[in-house]
Amino acid sequence: MRKTVLTTERLMLVAPDMGDCDALCRLWSDPETMRYIGAGGAWSREQIVERIERAIGMQRDRGMTFWTVVEKDSDQVIGQGGLVPIEFNGSEIELGYRLGRAHWGKGYATEIARAAAAYGFDTLDLDALVAVCYAENLPSRRVLIKAGFHEAGESDLYYGVKTIVHRMNASDGVR
Ligand SMILES: CC(C)(COP(=O)(O)OP(=O)(O)OC[C@H]1O[C@@H](n2cnc3c(N)ncnc32)[C@H](O)[C@@H]1OP(=O)(O)O)[C@@H](O)C(=O)NCCC(=O)NCCS
Repeated sequence: MRKTVLTTERLMLVAPDMGDCDALCRLWSDPETMRYIGAGGAWSREQIVERIERAIGMQRDRGMTFWTVVEKDSDQVIGQGGLVPIEFNGSEIELGYRLGRAHWGKGYATEIARAAAAYGFDTLDLDALVAVCYAENLPSRRVLIKAGFHEAGESDLYYGVKTIVHRMNASDGVR
C-alpha cells in the first residue's frame, strides 16, 4: 500500500519504497534521462537500490526526500521528485525532479516543482529553497522559472560542472 505524501492534479508523490525498484531501474538506466543528473550517465541497479535506501532514511529522519512520482491515471511510477539537503552544503534544501523520457513535455515537472516547493514552505516551514541545474538543461531551467524560482548566478561547486543556481524564498510568496 503506497503512502501518499503529496498530490497534484495528475500526480501522487509517494514515500520511497524498495517495491518500486524495478520501475525506477527501467527509468534510470536510460543515459539520455540521466544526462544532467549528478555527474551524468545511467545508474546501475546497485546505485538505484542505494539511492532508494537513502531516500527512505531521509523521509524517516527529515520528513522530506525524493518522493516517487506516480501518474494517477495509469497508476504507473514515472519518476522521482522532492526536497533534500543539498549534497554540497547540508544547510540548504534542494528541489529536484526527474521523469522517464516517455513522460516529458506534459507539464508534470512543473506540477511537481510547484507542489514540492509549497510543501517545503507551508508544511516543513522552510525559509528558502535552492535548485541547481546544468546550464544546458533548458527544460529544467524553464520549469524552475515557471515554478517561481529566480536565477541566482552560475556556480561550479555542484557536480564539478558549470551549473545555474536558482533560489526561491518563502517570503517571495509564490504559491
Ligand atoms: C527536465 C524535466 C524534468 C522536464 O520535465 P517536463 O515534465 O517535460 O517539464 P514541463 O513540461 O513541466 O516544462 C518544460 C518546459 O521546458 C520547455 N522546453 C522544453 N525543451 C526546451 C528547450 N530545448 N529549450 C527551452 N525550453 C524548452 C517546455 O516548452 C516547457 O515550457 P513551457 O510550458 O513554457 O512551454 C524532464 O525533461 C526530465 O526529467 N529530464 C531528465 C532529468 C533531469 O534533467 N532533471 C532535472 C535535473 S536539474
